[in-house]
Amino acid sequence: MKSPVLELIKVSVHMGGELILEDVQLEVYQDDTIVIIGQSGSGKSVLLKMMAGVYPADEGIIRCHGREWKTLSDEERHSLARKIGVQFQKSALFDNLDAYDNVAFPLREHTSMSEAEIETRVLECLRAVGLEEAKHLAPHKMSGGMQQRLGIARAIALKPEILFLDDPTAGLDPVNADNMSEMILNLKKEVKTTLVVATHDIQRAYQFAGRIFLLANKHVIECGSATETQNSTDSRVQQFIHGWLKGPLTSNSENNKG
Ligand SMILES: Nc1ncnc2c1ncn2[C@@H]1O[C@H](COP(=O)(O)OP(=O)(O)OP(=O)(O)O)[C@@H](O)[C@H]1O
Ligand SMILES: [Mg+2]
Repeated sequence: MKSPVLELIKVSVHMGGELILEDVQLEVYQDDTIVIIGQSGSGKSVLLKMMAGVYPADEGIIRCHGREWKTLSDEERHSLARKIGVQFQKSALFDNLDAYDNVAFPLREHTSMSEAEIETRVLECLRAVGLEEAKHLAPHKMSGGMQQRLGIARAIALKPEILFLDDPTAGLDPVNADNMSEMILNLKKEVKTTLVVATHDIQRAYQFAGRIFLLANKHVIECGSATETQNSTDSRVQQFIHGWLKGPLTSNSENNKG
């Protein structure tokens, strides 16, 4: 049987003293396209960062390529991190570097490539996201969509085996959001990577049409494919996908009072 490239076993985590995720159990396999959905503040970014080794779990086990993040030495962690690419929400770009140097950064940091090899790879990545012409532009001079694309170009620079994208269509108008989704799906085909995307937009989740994980009440509900999600008999899933104000997801909130 295939072993998972990401595995979470009974994972719980607190942030700022609050329990955010509890007893999360999931597996991701090579070439999977996983979409993490949930309401704003439900813990999508926290979950994605835990999978990528950025945040440790308070309880439970998080394995990436069979290695448990928290047992690794700095050197082992560095070499595992080389196999993954992360586009953080709000992109976390270096504002003092132009687009070219933002993408070159991980290559200079993690490889011994020559400047000529780096140039080839940087231009490939910028081309893949349609930013070749903007290579000398600083991030703060770019539109939100361009910044998102630059974040993705930097995340794919090292040809990652697992690519994490945190809300890649956030803040984009519907046309640009559609273009972005299409570009990501094309990239996934070209780069042949395992893809984990966080979004609060159920239509995007269907568009990516891999396996969907819904975050609800601190737990992860695995919903299956887009069709399986739509046909789910779980009332939490139905409430989320239809955007109903009342239901089990909001049973303790103001929305359900009165
Ligand atoms: N570094 C942190 N310190 C303290 N609390 C945090 C931290 N990061 C996240 N949180 C809290 O954890 C909860 C989950 O946050 P997270 O950013 O994962 O939500 P999200 O589902 O990604 O939301 P959004 O759709 O708005 O991006 C929130 O209550 C947030 O305030
Ligand atoms: Mg988030």
